[in-house]
Formats: sequence, structure tokens, C-alpha cells
Amino acid sequence: MAELIPFSTVLRERSSSAHAGSEHAGFMADLMRGEGTRDDYIALVVQHWFIYEALEAAADRMKADPVAATFISDKLTRLPALEADLAFLIGDDWRERIEPLPTTRRYVDRIRQVAATWAGGFVAHHYTRYLGDLSGGQFIGRIMARRFGFETNGIGFYLFADIADPQAFKEVYREQLDAAPWDAAEQARVIDEVLVAYRFNTDLFTDLAAAKSAAASA
Ligand code: HEM
Repeated sequence: MAELIPFSTVLRERSSSAHAGSEHAGFMADLMRGEGTRDDYIALVVQHWFIYEALEAAADRMKADPVAATFISDKLTRLPALEADLAFLIGDDWRERIEPLPTTRRYVDRIRQVAATWAGGFVAHHYTRYLGDLSGGQFIGRIMARRFGFETNGIGFYLFADIADPQAFKEVYREQLDAAPWDAAEQARVIDEVLVAYRFNTDLFTDLAAAKSAAASA
């Protein structure tokens, strides 16, 4: 009998081209190449705030679900770090000065509809953001710190103070994905929702690039 491929491996493989789409989106690639400005970086932090507000509100609602609960950890919570970053980057009145972009509104609506009501959907959105933050995010944080001279203020989002070993944390997370009580049909639905989440992240970079060129020609 052929050996069963773990769900976490299938998920990573099935989403790798969607991941490449997000990773190589122009706005993100420019930031990573050092061609983005501090304002570009701030614009991204702002959109993250709306996304994590929805994601972490969904986590609060899903805590009672036994499957979702295995993935929920206070060690991952990003909203306080994002709020401290925004106060540092924009000022204490940051809340009055931020707006979600159109893709962010749609992404947040999707999280509210899907991730707050369906365990598999919640895990799909949770995985796409937090496993990314613990992977490429660690690298992105270091590049932004170097480029804009941040020490901890401004890049708190990328610093997981309570996760000393992101690699080990991700391994446990993958074991939990493999242990989730999902049949093949449910696994396929979860993968589809991860692809939806990647699409939002890629489209968000398109929106950020459009907002930037609109601001430049205003
Ligand atoms: C400059 C942008 C990015 C870079 C350089 C990057 C890089 C990476 C790398 C190197 C890994 C593999 C780490 C490992 O196997 O341990 C990874 C994994 C991952 N990234 Fe990204 N990434 C970027 C953007 C994104 C974005 C925008 C998202 C989605 C919001 C994302 C979501 C993920 C996820 C979910 C994983 C975990 C895959 C898995 O192991 O199942 N990444 N990233």
C-alpha cells in the first residue's frame, strides 16, 4: 500500500504556487528589494491590523470548538503588537487615521463569515497568516528592521516573544493539522479556503500598489 502523505504536506504542496504568487507580488517584492518606502511599510501594517482584528475575534468565538481550539494559542496573538507598532509609526491617534483597502474589507468579511463559524475555515485562515508569520515573516521582519532602522518598535508584529523556536512550533502545528479529524472532502475544503486566503493576500498587495500610485499622482 502506498504510504499516506500527511495532510500538512499535501496542504503545503497544493498551496505552493499560491504562496509564490503572494511572495512575488510587486508591492511585497519591492519592499523586500529595498525599493519600498517607510510609508509603504506602514500601509501594510495598517492593513494587517484590520485582518488580525477579525482573525483574533474569530479565535475568541471559536475557542469553544474542540478542533479549532487545538490551533489557538495566546503565543500567536498579534493585535497588541500591531497596535504598539501603529502608535509608534503613526502616532497615538492612529485609529482615526487608518482605513481598510477594498481587498481588506472583503478579506475581513470572509474571515467573519467563514472563520468564525466553521472550524476548518478558521484553521485555513489561521494557518495562512500565522504559519506565514513564523516562516517568511521572520525574514521579512529582519529586512524591514535593517532597512528602516527599527529595533523592536515598528516591527513588534514579527517578534513572537513567547515562541523561542518558530521551527519547533511549526512542527507541532503541522502535527495538529495531520491529526485534525477531517475526511478527504473536508480536507479538500480546507485547502480551497487556504487558496482563498492566499488570494486575498495577493490581491491586497495589488491594492497597496494601486493606492501608492494614486497617492503619488494626487
Ligand atoms: C516576501 C514575502 C514572503 C517570503 C520571502 C516568504 C517565505 C517563506 C518561506 C521561506 C517559507 C518556508 C519556511 C519553512 O518551510 O519553514 C514560507 C512558508 C509559508 N509562508 Fe511565506 N513568504 C512570504 C510571503 C507570504 C505571504 C504573503 C503569506 C500569506 C499571508 C505567506 C504564507 C506562508 C505560509 C502559510 C507558510 C507555511 C507553509 C507550510 O509550511 O505549510 N508567506 N514562506
